[in-house]
Amino acid sequence: MDSSNIKVVVTGASGFLGRAVLSEAQRRGLHAVGMAHTRASGGLAQVDLLDAQATGDFIAREAPQCIIHCAAEKRPAAVEHSTQAHRLNVEVPALLARLAQTHNAYLIYVSTEYVFDGTSPPYEAHDAPNPLNKYGLSKLQGEHAALANAGAAVLRLPLLYGRTVDPAESQFGALVQKLCSGARLEANAWQKRYPTSTEDVARVLIDMSMSAASAGWLSGIYQFASQEMLTQYTMCEALKDILGSASEIVPLTHSVDSVVRPEDTRMSVRALEEAGINVQCTPFRQWWTTHLQTL
Ligand SMILES: NC(=O)c1ccc[n+]([C@@H]2O[C@H](COP(=O)([O-])OP(=O)(O)OC[C@H]3O[C@@H](n4cnc5c(N)ncnc54)[C@H](OP(=O)(O)O)[C@@H]3O)[C@@H](O)[C@H]2O)c1
Repeated sequence: MDSSNIKVVVTGASGFLGRAVLSEAQRRGLHAVGMAHTRASGGLAQVDLLDAQATGDFIAREAPQCIIHCAAEKRPAAVEHSTQAHRLNVEVPALLARLAQTHNAYLIYVSTEYVFDGTSPPYEAHDAPNPLNKYGLSKLQGEHAALANAGAAVLRLPLLYGRTVDPAESQFGALVQKLCSGARLEANAWQKRYPTSTEDVARVLIDMSMSAASAGWLSGIYQFASQEMLTQYTMCEALKDILGSASEIVPLTHSVDSVVRPEDTRMSVRALEEAGINVQCTPFRQWWTTHLQTL
């Protein structure tokens, strides 16, 4: 198959990651179609993924070669108390796995580092998951649902940063706003994170979707993450420095969160590397220095 002929459907294309994935697919010359729900504008197709009939009709009509499934409820606190979130994170990947099978499309399911308990990093893709919160559990169940389709792939990701249209889309939006205003802020100094840019993730997802042309679809579990370890506290210190902010940043050395979070979910990218996918990541400070200059 000529990779430039691939038609890709991106779910959650109005979201923080999906927007970057759709834009990367278009930049690389693929025929890309974005799906959204409450924020369907600018050419995105409006489909409620919880409506199985509408979703099935849409996939049948579009007949994509590849579906990149980004839509989900990503806020751990929201997943703790919502049955709707469970449906979105577990039932929808099951539906898409069946639809991909029926229409001979390649499904890539976007997952999270939160499938691990964070007690014995680094984690390989084949290491045993043990999620600590309902979000991690729902995403793990979503992985199982997606992989019921033997040709599907899972891509696990760490904390993401990138361009936003609304500061509420990412924790970095609120942090940058506080730092710009000079406000005092408290920051998590105990949870080890590996923040990765949505642009780098988008490149990897499109590389995976184009892999069929050279090597066949990559099926099974993959992981992508920067190997640069930062805590929320050290991220804030870096952003404070770039912004020239006068904010006082107070390190929190224990959790004050209602949701249990893993301490260190560093993920190996070996499986992707062995598949020949470029796993380079933009350094955190470099991306933010460039990005904040353009605001
Ligand atoms: N953000 C992170 O740091 C992070 C880290 C690791 C993994 N992930 C994973 O990456 C993926 C993308 O996350 P994100 O940060 O881009 O999330 P997001 O910004 O909250 O976007 C969620 C997307 O899902 C769509 N959606 C929600 N309910 C829907 C429904 N019923 N029908 C159709 N679409 C629906 C939303 O559409 P509307 O807005 O149009 O309603 C939106 O486009 C998720 O699978 C998440 O688990 C994210």
